[in-house]
Formats: sequence, structure tokens, C-alpha cells
Amino acid sequence: MKRIITYGTFDLLHYGHIYLLSRAKALGDYLIVVLSEDEFNEKEKYKRTYFNYNERKKLLEAVRHVDLIIPEKCWEQKITDIQLYQADVFVMGDDWEGKFDYLKPYCEVVYLPRTETISTTQIISDISNGGYGRCIQFPS
Ligand code: CTP
Repeated sequence: MKRIITYGTFDLLHYGHIYLLSRAKALGDYLIVVLSEDEFNEKEKYKRTYFNYNERKKLLEAVRHVDLIIPEKCWEQKITDIQLYQADVFVMGDDWEGKFDYLKPYCEVVYLPRTETISTTQIISDISNGGYGRCIQFPS
């Protein structure tokens, strides 16, 4: 069984997230999502999420590509996670290109192209500015 591991906040789950998760899963058989905890988001990523950890976890549990969700508590846990969960491939969007190359001695490291024109920050900004009714196509 080939195991894939990926990390993120996944707040206001959107199709950019889903497309990342579907391509990550397609690289193997079992997908582990390491979901940033609220405290880690606030203290280390300087992000306050709309949905809290349990809410974000519930949403991800409903995504068929995802097999296991575990908490992300600190930047340093990646090597331990890879070893503990026997991950073969570490996946992130290419906004993180090169940042995790130090994991290459432990597993394959893959950066997938990010879906353009969508992000949680963008959704919040659009809605705050009254930008409802936006409609674009899901990537094929
Ligand atoms: N991601 C992606 N395409 C997007 C948005 C996110 O492929 N349009 C990927 C990221 O590269 C990352 C994962 O989804 O591997 C989780 O991203 P996250 O930072 O939680 O989502 P963003 O929408 O980028 O959130 P923010 O705007 O708060 O940075």
C-alpha cells in the first residue's frame, strides 16, 4: 500500500483543496491529511480560521479521497509523522515549492500545481467586498 501525506489548514473547504486532495490520493492508495490545529494556525501561521479544527475535520472526513486526519501541532513534526505513518510520498501545493526538500531523505516529495484564482483568503475578501455570484468552472 502506497501512503501519501499532506498538510494544511483547509478552512472554508473549496475546489482548490478538493483538487489537491484528489491528485494527492491518485499518487497512491491511502491519503493522510495533517490538519493544522487552531492554536498552531494562530501562533505559527498567523491565521485565524473561520471554521475551528473540529469543523474543518468534519468537512474533510466527508471527502472520499481522505483516509485519515491527524492534527498538525508544530512545524517540526513532519519527519516523525512520515516515519510513524510510513508515508511514501509527501505532497504540497507548489506555493510551497522547495520548502520541504529537506524531507527527501525520508520519502518522495511532490509539489502539485496550485489551482489558480481560488484561495480561502480570496473567498473571504470577495465576500467581504460583496462579491457574490462569482462562478467559474471546476478544473477538469
Ligand atoms: N491549494 C491548492 N490550490 C488552491 C489553494 C490551496 O492546491 N487554490 C493547496 C495548497 O497548496 C495546500 C493545500 O491546498 O497544499 C491547503 O491549502 P491552504 O493553505 O489550507 O488553503 P488556501 O486556500 O491557500 O488558504 P489561504 O488563502 O488561507 O492561504
